[in-house]
Amino acid sequence: MYNASDKRYEKMPYRRCGKSGLKLPAVSLGLWQNFGFKGVYANMEAMIHTAFDLGVTHFDLANNYGSPYNGSAEENFGRILRDMRHYRDEMIISTKAGYEMWEGPYGDRNGSRKYLTASLDQSLRRMGLEYVDIYYHHVFDPNTPPEETALALDNAVRQGKALYVGISNYNKEQTAEILKIFKELRTPFVLNQPSYSMLNRWIEGDGLDRFCLENGIGLAVFSPLYQGLLTNKYLNGVPQDSRIGRGETWIGGQLNERMVARLNRLNEIAKSRGQTLSQMALAWILHNEAVTTVLVGASRPEQIVENVGCIGHLDFTEDELKDIEEILK
Ligand SMILES: NC(=O)c1ccc[n+]([C@@H]2O[C@H](COP(=O)([O-])OP(=O)(O)OC[C@H]3O[C@@H](n4cnc5c(N)ncnc54)[C@H](OP(=O)(O)O)[C@@H]3O)[C@@H](O)[C@H]2O)c1
Repeated sequence: MYNASDKRYEKMPYRRCGKSGLKLPAVSLGLWQNFGFKGVYANMEAMIHTAFDLGVTHFDLANNYGSPYNGSAEENFGRILRDMRHYRDEMIISTKAGYEMWEGPYGDRNGSRKYLTASLDQSLRRMGLEYVDIYYHHVFDPNTPPEETALALDNAVRQGKALYVGISNYNKEQTAEILKIFKELRTPFVLNQPSYSMLNRWIEGDGLDRFCLENGIGLAVFSPLYQGLLTNKYLNGVPQDSRIGRGETWIGGQLNERMVARLNRLNEIAKSRGQTLSQMALAWILHNEAVTTVLVGASRPEQIVENVGCIGHLDFTEDELKDIEEILK
């Protein structure tokens, strides 16, 4: 039986999710990669324990996470949870449905009531849970009326299978539309999950971050390290044992000479702050007041320790922000 560190709540800041009562750790752990059956079980378990010991109470999953087959991350997480059951009330566990999951028209990419309802039951079975804390629609579906998607999420809450709901990969306009419906239904809609990092600032241009802030919706942002580019890993080439080295991502194409030079310049600023590049990249995101939490991925426990270390220095001087802006331009 796993026993958590009794120091787990000493350092991590917990930030309110929009205007809701729910607080999330500034750093959360995502299980998209490295938690399927291609990974080593002991390593997955060590990552979850390391995170929890550091105050990372929020674990982000989706029905389709894991390889070689969709759902394997939820299965492994469920297995790890068996020895952590006594900490269930200290955890926020989220899952999602919306992308391709199972064969046929009902497990295809969509936002139907049929898909969202069936998928949540599957996720609960895989993880051995009675409820998830947050249930998301994973990606906007232009072919399903937003009323239907909203009602399916709302029903999950009414049935006690989810405590809160969220949306992911919705832009400002799409968010505004479904927000109106959630308000009418009085659904506990608390989170939006977009991608966001120093190298991917679309939410600022779209106005999604301001919109969520003004409307009391939290932001849990994904790929905050741009899948690992914003770490010290690629400053001097591509290690074989990396997401790019293993050919698991499309971002390798962006790692040209100019990008490497920019990353090295950012790293100089990080060093002057007494941080690693990943720590500064996460602190920079958390500096945006609209953001509740960064959803970090990891392939080993040491990365989680390093990344959580960002909380040691979250503020920026005006000069630092200006210098960073100059590099990101
Ligand atoms: N809603 C959505 O559509 C969506 C989409 C994508 C992700 N997400 C969520 O966001 C989470 C995070 O996404 P992500 O994995 O792309 O995030 P990320 O944090 O940008 O990248 C994580 C990867 O970067 C590398 N890394 C992390 N910390 C490092 C460190 N300190 N030093 C060196 N390398 C380091 C590791 O890759 P290697 O060591 O393998 O190179 C790790 O797997 C996912 O797990 C998921 O929960 C959601």
